[in-house]
Amino acid sequence: AQSEATLSIQQDGNGPTISRHIYGHFSEHLGRCIYDGFWVDPNLQVEKKDRIRMDVVEALKRIKIPNLRWPGGCFADEYHWRDGIGPREQRPKMVNTHWGGVTEDNSFGTHEFLELCSLLGCEPYISGNVGSGTVEEMSKWVEYLNFNGESPMSKIRKENGHAAPWNVHFWGVGNESWGCGGNMTAAYYADQYRRYATFAKNYPGTPLWKVACGASDANYQWTETCMKNIPLNQMWGLSLHYYTVPRNWRDKGSATAFDEQEYFTTLQKCLFMEELVTKHSAIMDHYDPDKKVALAVDEWGIWTNVEPGTNPGFLYQQNSLRDALVAASTLNIFNNHADRVRLANLAQTVNVLQSLILTQKEKMLLTPTYYVFDLFKVHQDAKRLPVMLNSPDYSIGKDKIAAVNASASIDSNNVIHVSLVNLDPHKSINVSTMISNLPWKTVSGQVLTSGKFTDINTFDAPMTVKTVAFNGAKKNGDRLQVSLPPESVVVLELKN
Ligand code: AHR
Repeated sequence: AQSEATLSIQQDGNGPTISRHIYGHFSEHLGRCIYDGFWVDPNLQVEKKDRIRMDVVEALKRIKIPNLRWPGGCFADEYHWRDGIGPREQRPKMVNTHWGGVTEDNSFGTHEFLELCSLLGCEPYISGNVGSGTVEEMSKWVEYLNFNGESPMSKIRKENGHAAPWNVHFWGVGNESWGCGGNMTAAYYADQYRRYATFAKNYPGTPLWKVACGASDANYQWTETCMKNIPLNQMWGLSLHYYTVPRNWRDKGSATAFDEQEYFTTLQKCLFMEELVTKHSAIMDHYDPDKKVALAVDEWGIWTNVEPGTNPGFLYQQNSLRDALVAASTLNIFNNHADRVRLANLAQTVNVLQSLILTQKEKMLLTPTYYVFDLFKVHQDAKRLPVMLNSPDYSIGKDKIAAVNASASIDSNNVIHVSLVNLDPHKSINVSTMISNLPWKTVSGQVLTSGKFTDINTFDAPMTVKTVAFNGAKKNGDRLQVSLPPESVVVLELKN
């Protein structure tokens, strides 16, 4: 079966740049993400730098990972950074109360995280502890990281083997302070933010880009209160967390076994991100019409039940073609809202939630979601081009969603990239595209799809879902004609 869509892509002289930081990731001390994901047993037979696993690093470098958020999540508000520096054998242990009640040995701390970021070539994004920490503790962490003169903290940093400061910019002031980060009210948090932010200093050459803890889902009152009570010049960004949960929080649904109804509901919930970003942005516009404060969607992704037989506190889930469609549709939403969304972090990179990478002892595999970030990296720091789309519906019973979503950008070499998603698992869709005032002669592309939306990559069959060359796009006069296969992600490159 086939169906028709129309798309128009326009030139926009004043359009925003799509910040590469919306392609960011998030890694918490949770399950097998940091420990046994990035940071492995010294005896594991893989290439390592210290205990950092280099095949994982190389894979993330290939998709140009722009930033990495750490150490949480909920863990951030029970993490005391001074326990994670100095000789490893002398570091105190702690209980990770949120995630499985396991003992954290603090072998991966500040120095190890910043070494990881330097190997990845990405910006660190550190979440400071507001819930159980003090203003002094956060203030000293920033001094330890960023001060380039003689001071108590820089002295300890040097003794621990790092004379130069790291120049960390992205700084989260608490995480989910309305919940695991302290169960605060919005007004109380806004006041706390002002205190903590005041003493998290901008050292010469390293202004902090402070991100206030924002709302979850549709808690618009939280956004309103933060925007009203925090002076705009005290925050770089305000966060938003939203997870796509196929069923409900008690029984989230399987990552691998689901029918078409559940596939549909999942996509419908994922597309709710458009409404969330629009409405939170509208509140921000009221207080900040010049859009100085970024909306930082610093936790997002699909959250399913854990794989059978794995620790429920470790949040290990498989990753299917459905999840790739979730990722691509969400990234299209972020691209289209690039004027306000300037930071985002998918949860959680390796072995936790919507991972890009899964590991099993020496083996490593790339998930369908990984390939989406590989395809979409062309949008990083490119100029957004506005799109107007007329899509057929994909419906089940009375419920319907737009089958197609899209975004487009033009890079510094005047190369245009168009990313298209077809969510309909049955129909291919012909997209007739008008491109106004933008010269182009040739089109090429890549596609990510598979036989079934439940298809996954496994350690025995790691290449089931992967990108291949796409030959379903052609130039027809001044129109671009694209035939999108069912349940697919296509990224096109148009050159002059
Ligand atoms: O990503 C898992 C958890 O989800 C994070 O720790 C927390 O911030 C959120 O509730």
